[in-house]
Amino acid sequence: MTQIIKTNLSDIEPYAASLLEEASKMLSIAYAPYSNFLVGAAALMEDGSIHHGCNQENASYPLCICGERVALYNSHVNAPGQKVIALAIIAKNPAKRLLTPVSPCGACRQVIAEFEQKQSAPIEIFLQGESDEVFYLKDSSTLLPYQFSGNVLGK
Ligand code: THU
Repeated sequence: MTQIIKTNLSDIEPYAASLLEEASKMLSIAYAPYSNFLVGAAALMEDGSIHHGCNQENASYPLCICGERVALYNSHVNAPGQKVIALAIIAKNPAKRLLTPVSPCGACRQVIAEFEQKQSAPIEIFLQGESDEVFYLKDSSTLLPYQFSGNVLGK
């Protein structure tokens, strides 16, 4: 199990800062008319390509999908077979400044875990709110210990 490393935008590697910057570009197009809570995400692949996502809400509330899941699914569609190296997630609440990073919901943790399982490689996770503070995790295991795995399904 890994720990959450609490760090700062100026202390992370340039590729991670750039990825957070890419994620932040999504905040302006997040579709969140119901919660007004904005989430942007960006996935960095082993070939260097970056695939974006933002939350997508719906008047039928259970159909809302989180920004990080959109980014991961988008990465699979646009770069099939490529491993996800890192995932940056940034959140913004226009009604209340988010001074610390926001943690991914349980559903997204499970999806990140399955991406790691299918590519047999960890995904670095970088989280940011509306300050320079950044939380870094070297994979999903801190967020979701004792993960459910598809290994138990089927014969
Ligand atoms: N949301 C995300 O995009 N990612 C998360 O990990 C947590 C929540 C979105 C879903 C919904 O559009 C809004 O934030 C409020 O829950």
